Amino acid sequence: MRTSAIVAGLSALVGAAGTPSVGIVAQMFRDSSRGSALARHVLKDERRAAPPVLDNRVARTPPMGWNSWNHFGCDVSAQLIRETADAMVASGLRDAGYQYVVIDDCWQVARDARGRLIADSARFPGGMKPLADYVHSRGLKFGLYTDAGRRTCQGRPGTYGSEEVDARTFAEWGVDYVKEDWCNAEGLEAPLQYAKFRDALARSGRPIVFSICEWGSANPWEWGPGTGNLWRTTTDIEDHWTSMLANLDISGQHAAAARPGAWNDPDMLEIGNGGMTDDEYRAHFSLWAIMAAPLIAGNDVRTESRATRDILTNREVIAVDQDSLGVQGTLVEERSPELQVWMKPLADGSRAVVLLNRSALQTVIAASWWRLRLAGAAHVRDLWSHTDLGTFSDHFSATVPAHGAVMVRVTPP
Ligand code: GLA
Repeated sequence: MRTSAIVAGLSALVGAAGTPSVGIVAQMFRDSSRGSALARHVLKDERRAAPPVLDNRVARTPPMGWNSWNHFGCDVSAQLIRETADAMVASGLRDAGYQYVVIDDCWQVARDARGRLIADSARFPGGMKPLADYVHSRGLKFGLYTDAGRRTCQGRPGTYGSEEVDARTFAEWGVDYVKEDWCNAEGLEAPLQYAKFRDALARSGRPIVFSICEWGSANPWEWGPGTGNLWRTTTDIEDHWTSMLANLDISGQHAAAARPGAWNDPDMLEIGNGGMTDDEYRAHFSLWAIMAAPLIAGNDVRTESRATRDILTNREVIAVDQDSLGVQGTLVEERSPELQVWMKPLADGSRAVVLLNRSALQTVIAASWWRLRLAGAAHVRDLWSHTDLGTFSDHFSATVPAHGAVMVRVTPP
């Protein structure tokens, strides 16, 4: 797995360069003991035709926002959404780039005589349109959840057979983002089913981010780029270190599929939900940013701690995630399986680098210029302490806390 992750990373890098740089890649591996096999993989991979990307003009950088599921589950209401939108403004989340306020499962109860979805009237008095208007009035965008099957994961009405009416209804309500889940979809073909809703959304005439949520079960990295703006690569994240790393390891293998408008989705953030230490949450945020993953917060923004806010609004880390080159970073080096270097090339020629310590002991991790495709002196800036660390040649190393990460930006002169 790890070797394949490194290979996927290198092929993404080759893709990032724009033209196939066969010579450079071959040179990189000439002296490596594992080199020839890796190089063959890379060369094979880089010739693979890139799938076409959905051209719906949204999500040119990974979507940022908030979703109700990770913290609130089914306990959603108009009041919660209004208060969350207010808190996103007051806490600076909106100004840091978090745009979409997404209600996950459990908002819907039935369909009316015309087949239109009906929101739970006790929890959403007045329905979704006034709520979307409120979210928009706060300078934010509005998102909803549905399911490709007949029922959602929590047994609410799904979109199967109602694709056209649901897309039209969502557009009328002012929905800007739709997440479509995959429960109760036995026997359906994911690429066809999601394409149906993609086309219905396009016919609605409203630009809507389309989030595919079939948990990586039908290789969505192969057809997702032509179908949605993001596609889940994994099962649901849980609020602990091993779950977060498991999703990293899976999503990290599909970097070659990501590009502007089309992103691998290792699931929403757990930062602030209480199951990890702040070091672990900083690593979670660093890794999602280096993977160009959607940054969808999943905490209670109304009561968030200073530490949580500081993590979620770290603009230097967010800038890595949102970089216009749109390349997903990858694993490029590991001394042991627990000590890793992840790298993402950026539009200005610099590299974002995460030194990841998966072990339970604080330790030093080094990133070599060779693995970062750098030569000579380069400036290094720490993206968590917000300090310039100086000029380094050949490699950069730092002490990394147990279950933690150091994140730097390395800029050649
Ligand atoms: C699935 C999805 C989750 C969430 C729940 C809601 O498990 O993967 O992200 O939407 O359904 O029921």
